[in-house]
Formats: sequence, C-alpha cells, structure tokens
Amino acid sequence: MIRIDGKEVANSLKAEIAAEVNELVRAGKPAPHLVAILVGNDGASQTYVGHKEKCCGEVGFRSTVLRFDENITEAFLLSEIRRLNDDPDVDGFIVQLPLPAHISEQKVTEAIDPKKDVDGFHPVNTGRMINGLPAYLPATPDGILELLKYYGIETAGKNCAVIGRSNIVGRPIANLLSQKGWDCTVTLCHSRTKNLKEIAAQADILIAALGKAEFVTADMVKEGAVVIDVGITRVKSDKTKSGWKLLGDVKFDEVAPKCSYITPVPGGVGPMTIISLMKNTLKAAKKEIYG
Ligand code: GUN
Repeated sequence: MIRIDGKEVANSLKAEIAAEVNELVRAGKPAPHLVAILVGNDGASQTYVGHKEKCCGEVGFRSTVLRFDENITEAFLLSEIRRLNDDPDVDGFIVQLPLPAHISEQKVTEAIDPKKDVDGFHPVNTGRMINGLPAYLPATPDGILELLKYYGIETAGKNCAVIGRSNIVGRPIANLLSQKGWDCTVTLCHSRTKNLKEIAAQADILIAALGKAEFVTADMVKEGAVVIDVGITRVKSDKTKSGWKLLGDVKFDEVAPKCSYITPVPGGVGPMTIISLMKNTLKAAKKEIYG
C-alpha cells in the first residue's frame, strides 16, 4: 500500500510554477496577479484566503485580498467584479465562497469574466471542460488528476466509481476521468444510488466525495484499489491539542491495507487544491486558455 503524499506533490508543482514565474519576470513580464474577494468573517474562508495569499508569495505571484463587510449589497459586489474584469493589471480573481445569504452565488459566479475565472466555476469554463476544450479546471478535480499523474497510476480502461455528485467535485471529476487521455469507465454514485456498496466494491479507482465522515468501509473496497478521499469533516477529539480532528469520507485504518494507493486526510487531496489555483493564475497571465 502506498500512501499518497499530497504535500510532496504540491511542493514539487509549486517549485515548477515558481521556476516559470521566475522566467516570466526575467523576460521583463509582470508577475502574475491573483485577487481574492472575501466577504464577511467566516473563519474557514479567512483561513483559506490566508493560505492562498501565502502560496502566491511562495511562487512569486502578486496577490491582493479585497475584504468587505458581510453587509455589502449584491449590487456593490457585482460592481467590484466588473471593475476587476476590466482591470488589465489583474490576471485572475476568485470570490471566496460561501457568501452571505442575501447575495446570490450564482449571479456572482456568472458575473466573473470567464477569462479571469481561475476557480473554474463559470458555466463557460465548466461547459468547455465537459466538451474537452481548454478551460480553467476546478481545483479539487484538477488536484486529483495531478496526484494520479505524479504517482503514474494507470487509468485507461479502469472502472472508476465516484461517490458524490457535487458541481465542484463529483460531477467534474467523473466527467474528466471519462475523457480521452484518462479513459476510465466511470460510474457516478449519489444518495439515491441502488447497490452503492456493490458498485464501489468493483471499482479499480474509488473516489469518495460525499462529505460523510468514514462512509467508505473495507467491505466497499476492492483488493488492490486506488482510493481517493476528498472528504473533510471536523469532529471533536480529546486526543489533539486543538480539541478537533479531521476525518475523511473513508475509514482509513481498515481500508488502507486493501489498497494499492490511498490518500490520507489530512495531507492527501487537500494540499493540491491551492496548486490548481496557482496553475490557473499562471495560465491566465500567459493567456494560455483564451488567447
Ligand atoms: N470555498 C471553499 N473552497 C473554495 C474554492 O475553491 N473557491 C472559492 N471561491 N471558494 C471556496
């Protein structure tokens, strides 16, 4: 059993990105510039945006965080988005989710110029991705693909089961792995799936992205399977200093011995998601997707 090390892969890709930024700057080009909009005081969102800022610094990007009060109007936020769309000094930007309930996440997502949508959430980017056209890929699916690539895991002709049909993980990863180049036979399972255990147990590659702590048990996993765990559920613990611990969607201790490869939580898929944002921002600065 090989325990997939997301931190190691993330560091290796970070070094590649930093080297490319170095070259751009040496050639007299401006460093890529990522802007994050943060609305309100959600603790997790502040932490994520902090990580993004730190990572930008590490790869040599310029980064700006625009912090707004939770009471701003939707109209104001949309006008800020238009301003960033039109600002030639901004290569890409994200609006950190979730937003306060009075602001429509759909309207906000659709207001972002697809050329600057480095989260890959705009329907133009998701549509292009589904059609196999160059697009900004969403962070978690792209992170999973990078892990498979780094470890040289064969995907062609393999049976892949994805559990969970979210717009940001389950459906895009199911689509991407079915595309040419990855060539999996994919079954997308969800809360209404019949025989989920049987389908999971036939998978060569099992991706758990349903958000239920320790849902996947050993009896649901084929001997020698590759198991990718996207879940992160915070639960109380008296064994850690913080009083909390993170659990994945997979019961790691009993599943791991059956696997050829498995991602731990934390330290598996998690560290990869930020790398995708950096990759997309670099592509935006180089105008790789839209010219
Ligand atoms: N909130 C949690 N994850 C993400 C993400 O990848 N992008 C944005 N914009 N918000 C998030």
